[in-house]
Amino acid sequence: MAIRLGDTAPDFTAESTEGTIRFHEYLGDGWGILFSHPKDFTPVCTTELGTVAKLKGEFEKRNVKVIGLSVDPVSDHHEWAKDIEETQGQALNYPLIGDPDRKVAQLYDMIHPNANDTLTVRSVFVIGPDKKVKLTLTYPAATGRNFDELLRVVDSLQLTAYHQVATPANWNDGDDVIIVPSLSTEQAKAKFPGGWNELKPYLRVTKQPNKGGAAS
Ligand code: BEZ
Repeated sequence: MAIRLGDTAPDFTAESTEGTIRFHEYLGDGWGILFSHPKDFTPVCTTELGTVAKLKGEFEKRNVKVIGLSVDPVSDHHEWAKDIEETQGQALNYPLIGDPDRKVAQLYDMIHPNANDTLTVRSVFVIGPDKKVKLTLTYPAATGRNFDELLRVVDSLQLTAYHQVATPANWNDGDDVIIVPSLSTEQAKAKFPGGWNELKPYLRVTKQPNKGGAAS
């Protein structure tokens, strides 16, 4: 069954390049990103895995653990990892799940039979500390994902989870944000003493609270 925003991310136990993973235990109290790859020894996936390895520090800064999945066995992943390091200039530094029996792929609805009946699509699940799914993305096999965009959405997810704001189109960390419409003017005055620019009663723009913007 499809996994929807707000659902509890299904737990599983699987083998990975870093040993047996118990998914919820692996995530601990932090955020997580589970992302799938159609197949080992494929070009786009090779670049994606190297890119995420280079960004590991950025994910760690945000308290996010990343974990990849490809439907081939872990023994193949270890061989492929050598190619990733050679061609991308960066060794794998996070676990890559082997899923030859498609157990995790089925659990997360990563196989879309009308696209391909055996390989996974490029799925992304961002999971919060409460183990709920906060964001999903689905890309086809031939289109590599933009992992800078994934960092950007994590910034938004974390900001909007902890402050009563939403982020506008093309927002980047540090840009102005929008006060959520559910906050009354009185409540907004208490929460945002630095004020806001009211373009419409439902469109109130203010400084990003955790960047020196005045939020109580
Ligand atoms: C790739 O990762 O390059 C790829 C995988 C499956 C189909 C097409 C491309």
